[in-house]
Amino acid sequence: MTEMKAGSCAVVIVAAGSGQRLGHGVPKARVPLGGEALLVHAVRGVLKSGIAAQICVAIPAGDEELTAMCGKLGAEAATAGLAFSVVEGGAQRSDSVYAALAKVAEGVTTVMIHDAARPLVPSGVFNRIAAALKDGAKAVIPALAVSDTVKTVVPANLPATGAGLEKVVGTPARNQLRAVQTPQGFELATLRRAYAHALTLDDEAASRITDDAMLVEALGEDVYVVQGSTHSFKITTPMDLLLAEAMLEGPLRPRWIEG
Ligand code: C5P
Repeated sequence: MTEMKAGSCAVVIVAAGSGQRLGHGVPKARVPLGGEALLVHAVRGVLKSGIAAQICVAIPAGDEELTAMCGKLGAEAATAGLAFSVVEGGAQRSDSVYAALAKVAEGVTTVMIHDAARPLVPSGVFNRIAAALKDGAKAVIPALAVSDTVKTVVPANLPATGAGLEKVVGTPARNQLRAVQTPQGFELATLRRAYAHALTLDDEAASRITDDAMLVEALGEDVYVVQGSTHSFKITTPMDLLLAEAMLEGPLRPRWIEG
């Protein structure tokens, strides 16, 4: 296995999802945005930030196009002095992260886990996470305050007709809520411990895991929060793609710069 300078940072980019909600008929990482696939944007974002010594990408098994794309991205990474590895992802996002973690090189001590589906993350976000890790945090996530009020709901039937709706059972205080993004940064040893613990969870508990930080929270470790970016949104629906295209090419572009 490749050996890195001690204290290096690796970035895992998970790109093995099907992207069914986007309805493009191809894995989401291959969906074009401004003429380049989402995965290309995500990898170049990491290269531009300058924080990583290694990039590990998880792609769907048997995807020849993404394999070829990773060949070219690996050459770009090598030119920038970074190691580049590719692995087959798994059925769940966490399986893809786990597979990619196996490729992290000797000498790496911190890792950021990132979604290929977030192609426009500014360098400032990577830098804020790297700085907090350097300052001793074992887990750091980028987040934004939420602008909508958020309710907790359960299934419920209307009294007269029995029509199936939902009803509100709680309203968390909005000023304490944060919408969480990727990349999420970790001390490598802590994340490996968190994933080892995750392997012991039953299916029900595993299905409630929606980000990597939750696994570290389950260990009782502190997870610190740095400012995220409105540019870091995840491409999930066609509306998101429209917004990303507008950000790259639209009239707002020269006026809208956020780190
Ligand atoms: O599906 P969702 O948008 O939540 O996926 C977030 C990220 O996780 C995407 O970049 C997707 O490619 C990745 N993923 C993965 N393996 C899976 C499922 C999702 O790498 N099995």
